[in-house]
Amino acid sequence: LLSASLLGIKFANPLLNASGVHCRYTDELDALAASAAGSLITKSCTLLEREGNPEPRYAATALGSINSMGLPNQGYAYYLDYARRHNYATKPLFFSVAGLSLEDNLTMMAAVRDAYIPAIVELNLSCPNVPGKPQIAYDFEAMDRMLAAVSAEYALPFGVKMPPYFDIAHFDAAAAILNKYPLVAFVTCINSIGNALVIDIENESVVIKPKDGFGGIGGDYVLPTALANVNAFYRRCPDKQVIGCGGVRSGEQVFMHLLAGASLVQVGTALHEDSPRIFARLNRELSAIMERKGYRSIEALRGKLKTL
Ligand code: DHB
Repeated sequence: LLSASLLGIKFANPLLNASGVHCRYTDELDALAASAAGSLITKSCTLLEREGNPEPRYAATALGSINSMGLPNQGYAYYLDYARRHNYATKPLFFSVAGLSLEDNLTMMAAVRDAYIPAIVELNLSCPNVPGKPQIAYDFEAMDRMLAAVSAEYALPFGVKMPPYFDIAHFDAAAAILNKYPLVAFVTCINSIGNALVIDIENESVVIKPKDGFGGIGGDYVLPTALANVNAFYRRCPDKQVIGCGGVRSGEQVFMHLLAGASLVQVGTALHEDSPRIFARLNRELSAIMERKGYRSIEALRGKLKTL
């Protein structure tokens, strides 16, 4: 009932973690591998290990979360070692890459390619939290240069993690650039809505330390923005697949992402606030909705969103 497909690879179900959540260390990745998730993705990595921003750097709120982690990670060699040891017969593994420069991305992706493993690269063009490093996908010339260089060097299909856009002209411009690159085989929409500000009224204060409290928000705040971005790229990139991310905490939101066109669906804030056991519940809830509506496969409903 729940089987899904991306890049010609079969998945037992469409669910996985959003990169950044429960995936910095091997024990966390192992728990995802052992969970009911259909696949998993590693923490976005850089060439060298990073501690990230000062704490507190994540806060849960009534409607979701805010974070400014600052790319704490163990360095790409750590995740590549994990990817070499992963049992791909149990489920697929995605490998998230977030180099601090174009050259760093080329180095890391060449290393993944030369490992001859079936890990699927998701190139992060949208980290909002490293001071002095603007989100690449908000600079269309930089994004075009990045995709040209990475396509030439990597030479295998890969995906891109996109920030949310909020204007039709930006959907058009971003999709036109992605469509220049046939190796960009999937588009993950969305990263957090960057540089938001959560205020605690009791303390009259921000709730995270980095960047004077500015950080990326996820959870209920972002669901309609996520669905719009999934559907905007689904409509504009007919030769690519879309991975949905944003605001998923029950089977209903998974169903909405699938209707909007997502082939797989990632879970961030809700996984952070719960545990990898959440995937069993989401699968159960998605199955119940599909059965109630008479759908016998995800393909039967994917992208079937009606307009008025
Ligand atoms: C971080 C946050 C992101 O949204 C992202 O895409 C990559 C890294 C972080 O703060 O660690």
